Amino acid sequence: MAKLLLLTLVGLALALLRDYRSSYQKRLNAFREVTPVELPNCNFIKGVDSGAEDLEILPNGLAFISSGLKYPGLKSFDPDNPGKILLMDLKEDNPAVLELNIIGSKLDLPSFNPHGISTFTNEDNTVYLLVVNHPDSKSTVELFKYQEEEKSLLHLKTIKHKLLPSVNDIVAVGPEHFYATNDHYFADPYFRSWEMYLGLAWSYVVYYSPEDVRVVAEGFDFANGISISPDGKYVYIAELLAHKIHVYEKHANWTLTPLKSLDFDTLVDNISVDPVTGDLWVGCHPNGVKIFVYDSENPPASEVIRIQNILTEEPTVTVVYAENGTMLQGSTVASVYQGKLLIGTVFHKALYCELGQPGERPPAASGSAH
Ligand SMILES: *[C@@H]1O[C@H](CO)[C@@H](O)[C@H](O)[C@H]1NC(C)=O
Ligand SMILES: *[C@@H]1O[C@H](CO)[C@@H](O)[C@H](O)[C@H]1NC(C)=O
Ligand SMILES: *[C@@H]1O[C@H](CO)[C@@H](O)[C@H](O)[C@H]1NC(C)=O
Repeated sequence: MAKLLLLTLVGLALALLRDYRSSYQKRLNAFREVTPVELPNCNFIKGVDSGAEDLEILPNGLAFISSGLKYPGLKSFDPDNPGKILLMDLKEDNPAVLELNIIGSKLDLPSFNPHGISTFTNEDNTVYLLVVNHPDSKSTVELFKYQEEEKSLLHLKTIKHKLLPSVNDIVAVGPEHFYATNDHYFADPYFRSWEMYLGLAWSYVVYYSPEDVRVVAEGFDFANGISISPDGKYVYIAELLAHKIHVYEKHANWTLTPLKSLDFDTLVDNISVDPVTGDLWVGCHPNGVKIFVYDSENPPASEVIRIQNILTEEPTVTVVYAENGTMLQGSTVASVYQGKLLIGTVFHKALYCELGQPGERPPAASGSAH
């Protein structure tokens, strides 16, 4: 009898593991291969070889790029050097990157490990750069002032909070005022990889201001990119392992209420919003296994999706760029500037392409809204 019970329990455990395994494969989109979609006149950005994990382009064409992320369990081509913030002027014909000097004594540069970034420009045109940082596996948000003349970043402040334990990305709504995604998985790669396997949806979104810090959305299976509509009324959140983009309504008291979600056949990473059209540009990982288990013979692919009219009944979803990793590995972010597309990656290169003429648009994606 005891033996029978034991066998039953073992059988149940195996069945559960099998369920988790198939859901894990589904969450990682383990069997997806890409069909290539090309763009004209693509060039690599010289000087970006170990990641352009996040980037943001200002309306004047200045692009800030975070490079050199060391994320537990993910590949790094430059593991021994600190991360850096790069600047590019996209108004130039062949823009080159410049590493911004960081000044101000409080930031420990050898352990600088920049992740998601966001800018905020105030009324007198001062540009603030907020950078998620992971010094020694911790999570902080660093506040910098961009100094145009000196091409430097003046470090103003380090922000830490118990509700910001594992920050992935931020979107600034003021110099010291932002929404942040906590992905839950930075630190303890061995233990946390089990939690990721089980899919406990422990990831959440926090509103931060110096006076008030609170959770405004929760229950995500790896909340990743976060962005805001040009009119400031909606917040977009990418849920990486559920392959969803969520639209939240933002209220005057900063709370968020869910409005709708869109499903995709790819792991949605970073979202950037075109300030002119309001379109969402999303850097995606078609196959999560290839990004989490790096194999140079079978590298992670890149995919960029554009979403138009997201608030309407039928948003238009287009795969604008897709490539199997031979050229560009592990795209995380894409942003447009005057008919060109800048694509960044977790640990590889950055690619700058022309978007082509309207009318020769690439085919629609399998993404659907509901
Ligand atoms: C971009 O993707 C990375 C990789 O997961 C994420 O950690 C980062 O914060 C994202 N940034 C934006 C702007 O979404
Ligand atoms: C915030 O504003 C919304 C919309 O007006 C309201 O429904 C909600 O109760 C408010 N929440 C708090 C915590 O004040
Ligand atoms: C990726 O695509 C290129 C060009 O289309 C092709 O030559 C190569 O064999 C492909 N690699 C893989 C791993 O599928």
